[in-house]
Amino acid sequence: MAVSFAAVNLRTMALRSSSKLLRRSSHLLPPIHMQHSAPPLTRKISMNARSIASQLNRSGLLKTQGLIGGKWSDSYDGKTIQVYNPATGESIADVACMGGKETNDAIASAYDAYRSWSKTTAAERSKLLRKWYDLLMAHKEELAQLMTLEQGKPLKEAMGEVNYGAGFIEFSAEEAKRIYGDIIPAPMSDRRLFVLKQPVGVVGAITPWNFPLAMITRKVGPALACGCTVVIKPSELTPLTALAAAELAIQAGIPAGAVNVVMGNAPEIGDALLASPQVRKITFTGSTAVGKKLMAGSAETVKKVSLELGGNAPCIIFDDADIDIAVKGTLAAKYRNSGQTCVCANRILVQEGIYDKFAKALIDAVRNMKVGDGFGEDVVQGPLINEAAVKKVETLLQDATSKGAKVMLGGKRHSLGFTFYEPTVVGDVNSDMRISREEVFGPVAPLLRFKTEEDAIRIANDTNAGLGSYVFTNSIQRSWRVAEALEYGLVGINEGVISTEVAPFGGFKQSGLGREGSKYGMDEYLEIKYVCLGNMKKE
Ligand code: SIN
Repeated sequence: MAVSFAAVNLRTMALRSSSKLLRRSSHLLPPIHMQHSAPPLTRKISMNARSIASQLNRSGLLKTQGLIGGKWSDSYDGKTIQVYNPATGESIADVACMGGKETNDAIASAYDAYRSWSKTTAAERSKLLRKWYDLLMAHKEELAQLMTLEQGKPLKEAMGEVNYGAGFIEFSAEEAKRIYGDIIPAPMSDRRLFVLKQPVGVVGAITPWNFPLAMITRKVGPALACGCTVVIKPSELTPLTALAAAELAIQAGIPAGAVNVVMGNAPEIGDALLASPQVRKITFTGSTAVGKKLMAGSAETVKKVSLELGGNAPCIIFDDADIDIAVKGTLAAKYRNSGQTCVCANRILVQEGIYDKFAKALIDAVRNMKVGDGFGEDVVQGPLINEAAVKKVETLLQDATSKGAKVMLGGKRHSLGFTFYEPTVVGDVNSDMRISREEVFGPVAPLLRFKTEEDAIRIANDTNAGLGSYVFTNSIQRSWRVAEALEYGLVGINEGVISTEVAPFGGFKQSGLGREGSKYGMDEYLEIKYVCLGNMKKE
């Protein structure tokens, strides 16, 4: 089976690449550190990375400073952090390492910009967001290259993420014009009751490294559409894509201060966002542990909070499933982004009658997956983000095998070295093993055997998480029964990739609060105001 995760979401399947040919950078360019338009890159950089960086530098998209009040800024103490290419271990760039002071200034400029941005018409906001979308799409190749460079995902998958990420901006541009209020029939004849929806205020958006663009646009798009302004804190591991997207927001004409970016000292930045009474909303995608801290920290100033946290997705294969569809769906649900998504299948529950057949078919397909540098041809699986990620995979696999699980394929670091890990299938897993209870966040598919539909539902729901889930069956009745019984915010039936900007994304239980994307995602950035007009008697 040919394997490709280029279609990282439903939208990507529909959209074709804008197919502007990738321009090769000129080898006549001066070394990147001699160019004036950007701060110097570190010296340890390969030709491949260098030529990509040169091209990005020329298009003005290689930014290494933070963005505060519309101005690119170094950290106030001059400190920088290095950004690494996980495929080679090389450092790609030094970016500003900001902290509390810079964050407070970013909040002040967002607060200032909020006064005017919140007063703009929906049509004005829509137009600027649309322009931003157009620019993101026009620079699709460069953004994708940047993503592959700093995050490691295969270039095709990165292109898919640009479609997906830009989609949130396009959707928000459209939805900006549909933020309606209500008129409520009054209980007394001389009163009129109105419901207004107003922007919540300044938003602190804290985003992860696994989707360096889409997790930003999924937050910033609706925030701006509703009239909010934002301070973004991208992951220190992947700030370059965020900064490039912010540069395009400026080029689109989004006013100074409406979008700010600070990165570096995560605890200081987080504390400053939490402490400020001017920040009225925190939106976060990341680990459950950090999400809980942000929720607790928001209590002091009673901020609105949206959290998209960790998952433990079950992928249930029933005896009556179409095996090819089940294998294709499981591959996508498990190995997308090298297993590093919150909705990646974490436990593959396989009914006993189909277990052996499914395991064999899955192993055959996984064996064909090409692992390598994301820029390599036909590569479908890149490296893991860092050494800690590999260690976690090793620890969970070691725990599982010590308790009786059997490695059926892979099960060790890849011969490519660095943080490459072999796509792995492990059988005879049970619910007591850590691999079934913790998020693997790596390319390991643990297979668990079950007997009945009731067993599958019980095992699937036996977790504190409740984000993504998948069901493979040919029975319509079973599809509905199981979808309704699963305690999960997202259910894919005979489908392994269900993320799209037009549908609500979010979790039950400890997987989070609120929804992102779709019309439901807009509400997260709005306050509801009730206005009562009384005393309508004629004077
Ligand atoms: C995530 O991993 O947090 C997001 C995955 C997605 O949007 O599909």
